[in-house]
Amino acid sequence: MSEKQVVKYRVTGNVAVISIDNPPVNALGPGVREGIIDALAQGNADSAVEAFVLIGEGRNFMAGADIRQFGGVRPVSTRTSAAAIDASAKPVVAAICGYALGGGLEHALACHYRISTPEAKVGLPEVLLGIVPGGGGTQRLTHLVGPEAALDIITTGRHVGAYEAQRIGIIDEIVDEPDFLAASVRFAARVAIVKPLPRAHLLSEKIEQAGDQALAFDDARKFHTRKSRHQKAPMHAIALIEAAVKGSFEEGLALEQTLFAELENSEEAKALRYAFFAEREAAKIPGASNVPKPEPVSSAAVIGAGTMGSGIAMAFADVGTPVKLLDVTHEALDKGMKRIRDNYAVSVKRGSISQSEMDARLAKIQGVVDYADISDCDAVIEAVFERVDLKQAIFRKLDDVMKPGALLLSNSSAIDIDIMAQATKRPADVAGAHFFAPANVMKLCEVVRGTQTAPATIARTMKMARDLGKIGAVAGSCDGFVANRSRTSLMTEMMLMLEEGAMPEQVDRILVAFGYPMGFFAVNDMSGLDVSYEGRQRRAAADPSYRKLHVPDRLVEMGRKGQKTGAGWYRYKDGDRTPHPDDLVKEVIASVAREFGIAQRTFSDEEILHRLLFASVNEACRILDEGRAYRASDIDVMWLYGFGFPRHRGGLMYWADTIGAAPIHRQVTEWHERYGKRWEPSPLLARVAESGTRLRDAGPQS
Ligand code: COA
Repeated sequence: MSEKQVVKYRVTGNVAVISIDNPPVNALGPGVREGIIDALAQGNADSAVEAFVLIGEGRNFMAGADIRQFGGVRPVSTRTSAAAIDASAKPVVAAICGYALGGGLEHALACHYRISTPEAKVGLPEVLLGIVPGGGGTQRLTHLVGPEAALDIITTGRHVGAYEAQRIGIIDEIVDEPDFLAASVRFAARVAIVKPLPRAHLLSEKIEQAGDQALAFDDARKFHTRKSRHQKAPMHAIALIEAAVKGSFEEGLALEQTLFAELENSEEAKALRYAFFAEREAAKIPGASNVPKPEPVSSAAVIGAGTMGSGIAMAFADVGTPVKLLDVTHEALDKGMKRIRDNYAVSVKRGSISQSEMDARLAKIQGVVDYADISDCDAVIEAVFERVDLKQAIFRKLDDVMKPGALLLSNSSAIDIDIMAQATKRPADVAGAHFFAPANVMKLCEVVRGTQTAPATIARTMKMARDLGKIGAVAGSCDGFVANRSRTSLMTEMMLMLEEGAMPEQVDRILVAFGYPMGFFAVNDMSGLDVSYEGRQRRAAADPSYRKLHVPDRLVEMGRKGQKTGAGWYRYKDGDRTPHPDDLVKEVIASVAREFGIAQRTFSDEEILHRLLFASVNEACRILDEGRAYRASDIDVMWLYGFGFPRHRGGLMYWADTIGAAPIHRQVTEWHERYGKRWEPSPLLARVAESGTRLRDAGPQS
């Protein structure tokens, strides 16, 4: 038995209970696999024991391998402890409550029976971490559920609910009883005498039923060639399921071992592991350790029924939280409600939700025009135009009507939160909740703290974001906050490179090769060039030194606003969304260059990529130095979830470390000499370059 007692063993009647006690989620940390093997040996040697129950203490069965241990030495592998379960002479029953994921499910699959609570969830999420299951899971699951379901579960890494798991053959019985352990022991006692033991890898019925699956494997490969261009794990998973269908169990296990070893230390797997922990770090709020556990937001109000406001209201309705959508006129409200209905109707048409789900969600959204109607809501999110006077007036009103303790939140993407807070007598309750469009889809919620925002307000807003299924990350208040501010530098450089001779299609090709699903110019054609045009005009009017972006301005002035006008950065044929490079854009670029005396040249792919991303790395360093982000990894989380930065690259700062702070600093310094102030190297970048440390570990004053 292990020293840390992460595995406990006790006998009740003729059943030995092996329980995993490794908080917080019963990951397979040091001692767990060893403990399971020891406990099985003990029970198999005890004539009083006739069966085993394998169960998790606390809320979960087992959440899989300890992700921190990857890349290091594991004295005992999941393959070995799973094999010990499989080979046990006495039946082992996996009693699953909560999550059985990865190595956790692999242990359960090696058990002879699996029972669960109705709430249990199972899955093999390894591909999401850039690896494949390495404990026999690809083989045993394929035998249990057949190749089609195995392909779905393993290549998506999704969580499968108990009832679905039962239907497809993973779970034998769902137990809905208050004392799950006692019921599991009874189940084990019942099956103790059944011989021979049902061993997953000896079952061949589902594989035989499936017949020739060559086409399904072909389709899966084609799909992942497109979808997971830069990732090996899904393709390897397909190969393993195919091996389970075509070859012996031993051959399948051997291949699984080889492919797992190939992936474990790959760059893709390291980046994905980093992203996993970065996401969880972002939830930690410095200075909030004494704050009591935040209350959930059980009712919300959204001010402004425009695109953002409607999307935010939908985000609440989607998780079943009642939400009031307020606009000043019935007309504006009707428009917002129609937008929401239309959006849901599209989801119904696509089959992603049912009509009754749509109705249930709509029933959660109540349109109102009177502030008195929202006063008892736990949180209110203002989502009106970016006009300071309007926002201040709204916050004054909210201060008057909202119940004490309500969260007063703004969805502003740029205006200083303090300006809104000052309009109230409760600045401690005011914060930003900056959603990204479309708000019901995009996962990032940037939680903005003003100078007087209370840690409890931040903590509760972060909880609200999490309950909405979003990833919250905290930002200090400054122009553009953290996410957009760090990205604006990239967008500016992208436009300025055009003036020097780069072409939209070259930039887009490089971004797609880097891992983005689409190039930014093509995306801009979808969202509309006119959206950012207005903002630029306002900035230029307010600031005479503002560097105008002539090329996109000209295109908008020519009526080229993107797909909706049939042309933008690209040309579109009738009814077709395929972007075609357009000589007219080339001419506009050339004429701007001539007019401003900018020499045209060719760019290497590397120069384009570096100029785009180094600009943002430098700005991110400034942001960190100013203390506007708690940690570099928070910026990575924002880029992953707000802007679709390729996850297998870890995030902006993680990627920057793969280049190195010193070479980036050298390049930024050179561009500073060539292009002037906007490339001034951040002092933090200089310090990290000098010290030879990592950007991802950098924080204020590091
Ligand atoms: N290894 C190591 N640590 C893990 C872990 C794992 N497999 N799974 C979760 N943790 C840690 C988290 O880092 C977090 O630690 P922290 O509190 O110090 O930040 C803590 O457990 C709680 O995790 P969290 O994700 O915040 O809890 P949750 O209740 O929202 O979700 C899970 C629980 C199990 C669904 C989720 O943690 C998860 O998906 N884990 C990874 C599962 C996985 O991929 N397993 C296969 C590994 S190959």
